[in-house]
Amino acid sequence: MQNSTHGNIEWRTSQQGLLQPYSTIFDDVYYSSDNGLLETDYVFLQGNHLTQRWQQLSSNHFTIIETGFGTGLNFLYAAQLWLNHAPKNAHLHFISTEKYPLTLQEISTALQAWPTLNDVSQPFLDQYNALSHIPTQLFDNRVQLTLLLDDATASITNLETTADAWFLDGFSPAKNPKMWQPALFAQMARLSTSNTTFSTFTSAGMVKRGLQEAGFLVNKQAGYGKKREMLTGSFTGVL
Ligand SMILES: C[S@@+](CC[C@H](N)C(=O)[O-])C[C@H]1O[C@@H](n2cnc3c(N)ncnc32)[C@H](O)[C@@H]1O
Repeated sequence: MQNSTHGNIEWRTSQQGLLQPYSTIFDDVYYSSDNGLLETDYVFLQGNHLTQRWQQLSSNHFTIIETGFGTGLNFLYAAQLWLNHAPKNAHLHFISTEKYPLTLQEISTALQAWPTLNDVSQPFLDQYNALSHIPTQLFDNRVQLTLLLDDATASITNLETTADAWFLDGFSPAKNPKMWQPALFAQMARLSTSNTTFSTFTSAGMVKRGLQEAGFLVNKQAGYGKKREMLTGSFTGVL
């Protein structure tokens, strides 16, 4: 894969003794050193009320768009919850963007930390090298993954779809300010409806204000682990 992280990942041991990637390009962690899986559940799944929404789904499809695919942890955990909670005939489309894709070897190493995801991570790893830009059906065609290997804003600018939920990941705004720009929030607004929600691990002022200016109602709530606060919210349109 072009632009891959090869050589720009360090492996560190988390508080639970799990091997986890650390980006030497951004000098930042891919996920909390407390517990990445619990962070994903708290910030992204609970932050968008996804279990409840999927148990009560009124249409047969749901779209999540993510900035920063990384190790695929958010995708795999969301896919597993979808398979467990959404109606069998419903379809999840997970669209993610990634400017610096991990190699298959790196992603396999990272995912070894999460044996409870094995049923979804193995079929995903089998297809990982072929995933670039091509929508791929996984898990008995109940989930489609589209992985866009480019800058988040550039990728999202080319999309013509609507998002039911946004996962705003992508290293901290202080370490990756280029990604957290008004142009990204404007593209999010373009693809949002009155039912669209978002969540992110950060509570940075530039993100809060940027989302508000783009038409999102923004709530601050307690963050995961060492993070005091994080942001969740929904699209209301510019008032
Ligand atoms: C904190 S990690 C994401 C963790 C990930 N969601 C997971 O489940 O492992 C942030 C990711 O955003 C990617 N990234 C950074 N800047 C980006 C940009 N401008 N566009 C797209 N991806 C970007 C990084 O390469 C990294 O994989």
